[in-house]
Amino acid sequence: MLTQIPGPIGIFDSGYGGLTIFDNIRKLLPAYDFIYLGDNARTPYGTRSFEVVYRFTRQAVIKLFEEGCHLVILACNTASAKALRNIQQKDLPLLDPSRRVLGVIRPTIEIADSITNSKHIGILGTSGTISSNSYMIELEKIFPHITVTGEACPMWVPLVENNEFNSPGADYFIKKHLNRILNTDPTIDTLILACTHYPLLINKIKEFLPPDITLFSQGEYVAKSLKDYLKRHPEMESKLTRKGTCRFLTTESADKFSETASIFLNQSIHVEQITID
Ligand code: DGL
Repeated sequence: MLTQIPGPIGIFDSGYGGLTIFDNIRKLLPAYDFIYLGDNARTPYGTRSFEVVYRFTRQAVIKLFEEGCHLVILACNTASAKALRNIQQKDLPLLDPSRRVLGVIRPTIEIADSITNSKHIGILGTSGTISSNSYMIELEKIFPHITVTGEACPMWVPLVENNEFNSPGADYFIKKHLNRILNTDPTIDTLILACTHYPLLINKIKEFLPPDITLFSQGEYVAKSLKDYLKRHPEMESKLTRKGTCRFLTTESADKFSETASIFLNQSIHVEQITID
């Protein structure tokens, strides 16, 4: 039985990447309480099948509901692409129709038209996000005049998860995918980082990117979109507690998460290890 007592906002990612979204959200909405859950034991999600990403994400969402969250943000493009719709349409009506789960793709798409002049956009994401065609399908619905090219970068998440993103080894894989997408469509003027892990590679990516290409990172827009959502949904806002706290949960070693996450967040954090199934 899920509690109806107000609770924190849940933020979920397969690992550390969602911290880039969490950081933006917390800066914009510092008064709220948060629980961040990283499924580090089962990361990466990007190369997993639709069924597996859905099953893992559903388990994580239920865990966050059990921890008292009424609102959960899937701070993961792969989970947003492969699990969000099923969770919203099939699971929420049965679990608790008053709870909400939101993703990161829609807020990113909404800004797309205003950030490109050439109207040619490139999407860099995991194999799962790119093969799902979610960005292309959503963009076609709102901005059919925009030409979209996707590029799967399967090695980029392991580089981040293994703290190898500043190593010379990262250069090869970053150059490879940037060259490929820009050769496919040389009129692209904007690249969207459609994976929450990729902002951690931003300095490396910029090193290899022609100066006239804009690199778009979604964290700020997901945070703004959440703020706007809470304004428009007072019934949800009233179910959120506001003491400015944050709990960090991981399915892998708490010490390892604490060490790596502290680098991303520039602060030391306390982490709890949990199991989800
Ligand atoms: N950070 C996730 C995303 O935005 C995926 C990372 C993974 O492959 O687990 O797509």
